[in-house]
Parts: sequence; C-alpha cells; structure tokens
Amino acid sequence: MKLNLVTLSVFIYGVFSNKLSDELMDDWNRIASVHAAACIEETDANPILAESMFKDHKLIDEEHVKCYMKCLNEKNTFIFPNGTFNRDKFVNDIEHVTYAIIDKCLAKLNNDADLCKKSYSLAMCFSEENYVA
Ligand SMILES: *[C@@H]1O[C@H](CO)[C@@H](O)[C@H](O)[C@H]1NC(C)=O
Repeated sequence: MKLNLVTLSVFIYGVFSNKLSDELMDDWNRIASVHAAACIEETDANPILAESMFKDHKLIDEEHVKCYMKCLNEKNTFIFPNGTFNRDKFVNDIEHVTYAIIDKCLAKLNNDADLCKKSYSLAMCFSEENYVA
C-alpha cells in the first residue's frame, strides 16, 4: 500500500511537473530559428527541429539533437573557441537563463570533452530548471 502511494506520487509528479512554458519554448525557438536550417544540414538532424526543438513541452531527445545543440551554440557564439561555454552570453541572450541557473548547470556537466553531449546536457539542465507544474 505504501509502495503504491509512492509510485503514484512519482507518476503524478512525472506527468504534471516536467513541462516547459510556451513562453520559454517560444524564446528558445526564436533564438534557434536563425541557424536552424544550417545546423540541421550540418548535423543530419531531424528537419522537424526547424519548427521546434520541443515535443510535448520537453526538449526533443534523439540521436542527432545533441550535435544540433552544439551547432546552435557555436553559431550563436555561446561556446568560446577554446571549447568552454560563454556564461555572460547565455544570460544576456536567453531570458530564462540566469547566472544561478547556468552556474548550477555547468557544475553538473562532467569533464566529457564531447561538446555535443555537453551542449545537450546544458540545454536539458536549463529546461529542467524552468519546468513548471
Ligand atoms: C576560454 O576562453 C575564454 C574567452 O577568451 C576565457 O575567458 C576562458 O578563461 C578560457 N577558458 C579556458 C579553460 O581556457
């Protein structure tokens, strides 16, 4: 009985809380739209990303999305030539990214040298920090 309650709460939490607001998605899609076509071509990503990088109010998770994110980051100069992320630019350009959020998210990234994975993990962390119920 106890276990069922826990399972149920986890289920309800999962269903109702992991969502992004329309406002946030619009904001991100607007930034992405400038380079979406070029980055889709460069990374073989699904062309559906040109419309939106979100599905069911979550960041799309599929194979080519990670490098698509890296491409967008590079084209928007969110990544320095030395491969580190430009905190100030993220905070200045994306309304929903604050210094508190980016510092927390950067701290969560592992030392993986793969910028595709890092770019996706960062975007996922940004979105998780902005989930609404
Ligand atoms: C990478 O480049 C940026 C901008 O020039 C600089 O601020 C940062 O300290 C550099 N990071 C590393 C690890 O070299």
